[in-house]
Amino acid sequence: MPDPSAVNSMFARIAGRYDLANRLLSGGIDCWWRRRLTNAVLRHQPRTVLDLATGSGDVAFALARRLPEGTAITGMDFCQPMLDQAVIKQTQMEGSATKIEFVPGDGLNLPCADATFDAVAVSFGLRNMADRHRALCEMHRVLRPGGHLHVLEFSQPYAWFAPLYYFYTRRILPSIAGWLTGDRDAYAYLNASIAAYPGHVAMSEELARAGFKNVRALRMTLGIVALHLGVA
Ligand SMILES: C[S@@+](CC[C@H](N)C(=O)[O-])C[C@H]1O[C@@H](n2cnc3c(N)ncnc32)[C@H](O)[C@@H]1O
Repeated sequence: MPDPSAVNSMFARIAGRYDLANRLLSGGIDCWWRRRLTNAVLRHQPRTVLDLATGSGDVAFALARRLPEGTAITGMDFCQPMLDQAVIKQTQMEGSATKIEFVPGDGLNLPCADATFDAVAVSFGLRNMADRHRALCEMHRVLRPGGHLHVLEFSQPYAWFAPLYYFYTRRILPSIAGWLTGDRDAYAYLNASIAAYPGHVAMSEELARAGFKNVRALRMTLGIVALHLGVA
């Protein structure tokens, strides 16, 4: 499991170039993955939403654009420089995005009362948390009974595609990312964390173990990413 202080300082180092690196390394497909996540959140028309591990805030902004005015959206992250990027972007926006509250908080010990949110979204964040079971239990705790969890995360690709995919993540991605962000180590970590992450079946079992019901996984892009859904 990742070391929280190493993860925190790694995201602090790359915060300023995080969005650009995401777009280039995924060929822009990361926007479509997040769109699938926001579509799933929208389906339940929540009134209170937590975007945990919000980073530079893209999921929170997409939700603010598409949910009705008055929906309370909280973007939370334990890395202040990533939150700072979200706030810089927010100051250049208009409308409901300006109402998002960006607050510091650790996914392993959420600074929120029980049953606070109708929906929790976490996009490419759970993989970085030191104790996934604890993080999922925390998400369960802060959701109201019947509230919806949405976890977008890397997963394990279809078997026939795995060699090509791992060639890209091991050999090509760290070099391009190192050049883009000046931090090759950060993306070597990305590669290692993706390879070590469970596939969609094991991940679904982890959600169930944390108390979620009606657990489902939607695999995307030849299985390299999955959207996991559960009900508290
Ligand atoms: C890959 S970024 C994802 C950001 C954003 N959700 C997105 O989709 O672009 C991972 C984020 O998880 C945050 N993170 C990692 N561990 C965390 C924890 N224990 N509590 C809160 N945030 C955490 C990092 O600081 C980082 O901003």
